[in-house]
Amino acid sequence: IPVEPFDYIVFGGTGDLARRKLLPALYHRMRDGQIPAEGRIIAASRRKMSDDDYRAMTEEALTEFVPEGERSRETLDAFLGMLSYRSLDALSDEGWDALRDELDGDTERVRAFYLAVAPNLFDDLCQRFAQHGLVTPNSRVVIEKPVGRDLASAVKVNDAVAQAFHESQVFRIDHYLGKETVQNLMALRFANTLFEPLWNSAHIDHVQITVAESIGVGSRGDYYDTSGALRDMVQNHMIQLLCLVAMEPPDSFDANSLRDEKLKVLRALKPINASNYDRLTVRGQYRAGAAEGGAVPSYAEEIGNKRSRTETFAALKVEIANWRWAGVPFYLRTGKRLADRVSEIVITFRAIPHSIFPKDSGVISQNRLVLRLQPDEGVKQWIMIKDPGPGGMRLNYVPLDMSFAESFQERYPDAYERLLLDVIRGNQTLFMRRDEVEAAWAWTDPIHDAWDEDGSPPVPYTAGTWGPSAAIALIERDGRTWHEDTD
Ligand code: BG6
Repeated sequence: IPVEPFDYIVFGGTGDLARRKLLPALYHRMRDGQIPAEGRIIAASRRKMSDDDYRAMTEEALTEFVPEGERSRETLDAFLGMLSYRSLDALSDEGWDALRDELDGDTERVRAFYLAVAPNLFDDLCQRFAQHGLVTPNSRVVIEKPVGRDLASAVKVNDAVAQAFHESQVFRIDHYLGKETVQNLMALRFANTLFEPLWNSAHIDHVQITVAESIGVGSRGDYYDTSGALRDMVQNHMIQLLCLVAMEPPDSFDANSLRDEKLKVLRALKPINASNYDRLTVRGQYRAGAAEGGAVPSYAEEIGNKRSRTETFAALKVEIANWRWAGVPFYLRTGKRLADRVSEIVITFRAIPHSIFPKDSGVISQNRLVLRLQPDEGVKQWIMIKDPGPGGMRLNYVPLDMSFAESFQERYPDAYERLLLDVIRGNQTLFMRRDEVEAAWAWTDPIHDAWDEDGSPPVPYTAGTWGPSAAIALIERDGRTWHEDTD
């Protein structure tokens, strides 16, 4: 079913995010019949460009980022027909009234401003929207991360956006929430009776969340070097995953019910600061090594700054101070240039209290539930069974394995496909509320402060490995190991 007619006004319309993600996502939704014929996409940026030039640029982007089998001339033409282009500068008054006149034909229609631009422009853009009367009751604004680089700057960004938009109109994207498998985590927890009774410290030993990437920072060095893994991945994506695992059952799948529960988790995170960071955190930076089938340079070489102290890897032991999770550590790790691209959440259950089997039956491993977010999406529940055969009671650890690719034939929509249409539907469930973002910064800021005060550089790790050995020690000190899929 198509969504209602809309105007998407994409600032940064010629940029990388628009070309790689936003335009292909809208194209795919059109292909599946979800975009109404009256929908319009107005791209804007400072560049001077005609509508036709923009359409040509879009066609090129779609050729590059939409697989051939998913492109057809007919859909492409219909899609290009929705596009127009406006040259607009957040710092100049020119062109804004004309944009309003163009949009004003129908003030009832959903109007979504997508700010795919550097965050330092959010304030100016929102002021322009307000000054030129562009914000209608049916308007929404979509903002991309980073929302600030610490609590103070996040408050500033949020204040600036709040000058023009009510919180119910603000859609802060964390694209991890749009991933199919992340939503599946909620289905697994709250559409089954099996897990919820066990989902607490009485039955769960610990939780691991890994978001590993094999790519380096590539051309994003300028941004990344002012950010680092904690700001780029932990403050948002990983903390969001942790919240979804740890939250209490919301009373409904409604945006605020869900976000209220996530916020409670954020507020219950035990502080990591100067007094304990050395036991609870590890930060690393990759040196030259081998990844993605070839030799790769170090981070410092890649960004051309030998003195950079930016971490490209972070591992943390996080605890949640509430009844459900007291004493259950959540181990988080993320990094660039690691051995493999894999994102997964691993729930390890407690050991059995007593073994009835003879010693030579084999080791009894703890049950593990592994949610593989990407790639090879799926769920595995590791259990102990008896090895088949007459050779006595031999025990073996095996997965009950559900690979989504094997079970479902559908293509997996990209996170943005879901999220872009949720904006039009006015559904904020998979977007971050202001207080969540600020609570996440309030928790990560003291970690940064402690690292800065410490002053030592991040520990090196070789590109193409699983990160610094200190990260292995972080979990092994507690008598545990990072999960490795042995199947
Ligand atoms: C982005 C980060 O938010 O997420 C990138 O800024 C990172 O550094 C990316 O590469 C990872 O997303 P995905 O969907 O490829 O796991």
